[in-house]
Amino acid sequence: MKIAVIGGTGLIGSQVVKLLNDAGHEAVPHSPSTGLDLISGKGLAEALAGADVVVNLTNSPTFDEASPEFFRTTMDNLLAAAKDAGVGHAVILSIVGSELVPDLVYYRAKVLQEDILKAGPIPWSIVRATQFFEFVGAVLSWTSDDECV
Ligand SMILES: NC(=O)c1ccc[n+]([C@@H]2O[C@H](COP(=O)([O-])OP(=O)(O)OC[C@H]3O[C@@H](n4cnc5c(N)ncnc54)[C@H](OP(=O)(O)O)[C@@H]3O)[C@@H](O)[C@H]2O)c1
Repeated sequence: MKIAVIGGTGLIGSQVVKLLNDAGHEAVPHSPSTGLDLISGKGLAEALAGADVVVNLTNSPTFDEASPEFFRTTMDNLLAAAKDAGVGHAVILSIVGSELVPDLVYYRAKVLQEDILKAGPIPWSIVRATQFFEFVGAVLSWTSDDECV
């Protein structure tokens, strides 16, 4: 199966590309560092040409108030281009329990990303993971001061 992995150069994306190729699929990574930009749409049609499935593993450059707009624009662009290219299935990676923490704008952004996918024009899957271990340092730094975590 030919699979376009958008964000396929990132922490999880690079591992997904390797696992898919090891399993016999033809997975190709795409991201700004390979010439694709989901915000502007640059390189998107070329990346999706002939793909059976698109896996979207992009991430917002910030986790703040700008993150909802990142996921809205990138999902709108991705789904429109995937429909035009005849892609059969779209997959995103979301976060377990994100709908339960609406005070965190990044979690609201992930719920928005899920809602846009569900309302979109092509069949979809949402994979929800808990936070990766690579994230432990950042999470603790947000909730620590000099004396307590
Ligand atoms: N980290 C966690 O604990 C966790 C848990 C559950 C779900 N998730 C979800 O998993 C996804 C990936 O997370 P990650 O930690 O692997 O992210 P990451 O390492 O920061 O990688 C982000 C990827 O997105 C690409 N990207 C950024 N802006 C883009 C744009 N405008 N157009 C196209 N691609 C763009 C980057 O490309 P370049 O390399 O070229 O910059 C990179 O390949 C996120 O949606 C996140 O919410 C993460």
